[in-house]
Amino acid sequence: MSTHIAAKAGEISEKILLPGDPLRAKWIADTFLTDVIQYNTVRNMFGYTGSYNGQRISVQGTGMGLPSISIYVHELFTEYNVQTAIRIGTCGGILEKTKIGDLVIAMTASTDSNINRRATNGLDLSPSANYDLLQKAVSAAAGKSMHVGSVASMDQFYDSTDSLQKLIQYGTLALEMEASALYSLAAKFNRKALAIMTVSDHVITHEAMPADQRERSLVDMVEVALKTIAN
Ligand code: HPA
Repeated sequence: MSTHIAAKAGEISEKILLPGDPLRAKWIADTFLTDVIQYNTVRNMFGYTGSYNGQRISVQGTGMGLPSISIYVHELFTEYNVQTAIRIGTCGGILEKTKIGDLVIAMTASTDSNINRRATNGLDLSPSANYDLLQKAVSAAAGKSMHVGSVASMDQFYDSTDSLQKLIQYGTLALEMEASALYSLAAKFNRKALAIMTVSDHVITHEAMPADQRERSLVDMVEVALKTIAN
């Protein structure tokens, strides 16, 4: 038992997928895993463990934003011995080339949050993906429309600051709200992490993914993540 996760010792796998939406965690467990147990309902932030190709895999909702994912990942790393964590989620494209439905695999994640600076006495940490996972995900996604590079994990979804132009100028692929926190906690606790996202909307063109494309692209992303983590 930890503060926000009610699992008993041993109920969570060392390998975990981390969607933001707890109902997506449930959907992933129902759709892709067998012999599933639900280990957490605290705050409706559902967590499940099941079997995928003979391996135990867990899937835990994290909520939105750096503070929320930080709570769950900290407890998973420090109290449940999670070694490998893959965030799966959506992001908003900001470059011309990041099109709706594309996969974005985050090599690193900038942020306007103060969390990393507070953690490192003011240094601009460059939190990065685990290379082994990154390379496996790129192989698993071969043939799909994908981008590998930097994302920005922003504190505000409805951001009215002028940071967007700078991020575009510096080649940032997309905006989301969690990867930087996940990567810096992985660095702190010497664990492996990766974030794989689907472009669900475009921040500049305001294009959004049509409803009929949502499930297909979600399935594609989960399959890439499962192949990566089970490899
Ligand atoms: N901004 C931040 N996070 C997001 C977005 C966005 O535009 N789209 C999906 N997640």
